This record gives sequence, structure tokens and C-alpha cells, in this order.
Amino acid sequence: MEFTEVIKKRYSCKKYDGRQVEKEKIDSILEAGRLAPTAKNLQEQHIYVIQSDKLLTKIDEITPCRYGAPTVLVVAFDKNNVFTYPGGKRDSGVEDAAIVATHLTLAAANEGVDSCWLNFFDPDKAAEVLGLPENEEILMILDLGYAAEGAGPLENHNSRKPLSETVTYL
Ligand SMILES: Cc1cc2nc3c(=O)[nH]c(=O)nc-3n(C[C@H](O)[C@H](O)[C@H](O)COP(=O)(O)O)c2cc1C
Repeated sequence: MEFTEVIKKRYSCKKYDGRQVEKEKIDSILEAGRLAPTAKNLQEQHIYVIQSDKLLTKIDEITPCRYGAPTVLVVAFDKNNVFTYPGGKRDSGVEDAAIVATHLTLAAANEGVDSCWLNFFDPDKAAEVLGLPENEEILMILDLGYAAEGAGPLENHNSRKPLSETVTYL
């Protein structure tokens, strides 16, 4: 698919029909995450693929936002393997994981797979429930699946500020 078409096609899907995403498509989505750039090429991301009823039920315990997605990707990063920027106030963990997550999200759209980026959960509780190692912090959860009949972009999908409000040429 054309890149501009992928960007336009992606929207946050909030109702899935339960059909599982094909393995080849999951592989292709994960590969797009693998190729994402990270600070100093640290690649501190760790992605968990969740498809079992047992773990999907655990996801439902920590967020109301799975919306019936049959696959969720949990994007975490290794807190002990981040690059601290000059000034010492920020490090690469959150943004590297966010870049990976963005690649995953757009790759899903490219594969015709619907998705929704989730942050409405307590990341510490999520890490505990899923039994993640101490050194890993969860950045986000990505619902993946196919939209249920009648589901589609919400009203706000087409409501974006004009560039004049968000861009300044200095
Ligand atoms: C960082 C981030 C966190 C989000 N968290 C949630 C969430 O927890 N639950 C949810 O239903 N949607 C969530 N969304 C989806 C947004 O609500 C959605 O992207 C936004 O309303 C614009 O709609 P669109 O993605 O269809 O264009 C999140 C999106 C982003 C980028």
C-alpha cells in the first residue's frame, strides 16, 4: 500500500469481530517493529504477543480497552538499557518504544489489520499481572484484529488541527 494511504487508513478500532490475525501478518507487523530506529541502536524494546484466552482475560482485568481483539501486542522496554541524554532529564526508553509501537501500528494498517493503541491501564500492574521481568517497563498495548461489522473510525478521527496551529517556521 502507498505510504500516504497507510497513514490515512489507520484509525483506532474499538470493536473487533473475533477473527484471528494470520500468522504471516503478525510476522510482518513484528518485522516492521524490528526495523524501527532506536537511540544508539540500543533496541531496548521487548514485544509480547498475547493470543491465549488465559492471557487475554488478564488483559481484560487491567484495561477495558481490548474491545474483543484476538491478539494484543504488549510493547515494553528494558529500563536498564537506555541512553540518557545530555542534561540527564530524559532517556531513550519511552521514545524508542514509542517509535517501535508506531511502526507496529502503521504496519498493521498496511496489512489491512485493524488496531488500537492503548495506554488506559496501570503499567506496573500490567507488568505484574503478565509476570514481566523487573527491568522491563510497559509502554503501550496494541490491540490487533479485524473490525466488527459497522465498526469504523470515531468522529474525532477526521478532526485534526490545521498545520497553522501546530507548525511554526522559525
Ligand atoms: C498514546 C495513545 C494512547 C491511547 N490510549 C487509548 C486507550 O487507552 N484506549 C482507547 O480506546 N484508545 C486509545 N487511544 C486511541 C485514541 O483515542 C485515538 O487515537 C484518537 O482518539 C484519534 O483517533 P484515531 O486514532 O481513530 O485517529 C490512544 C491513542 C494514543 C496515540
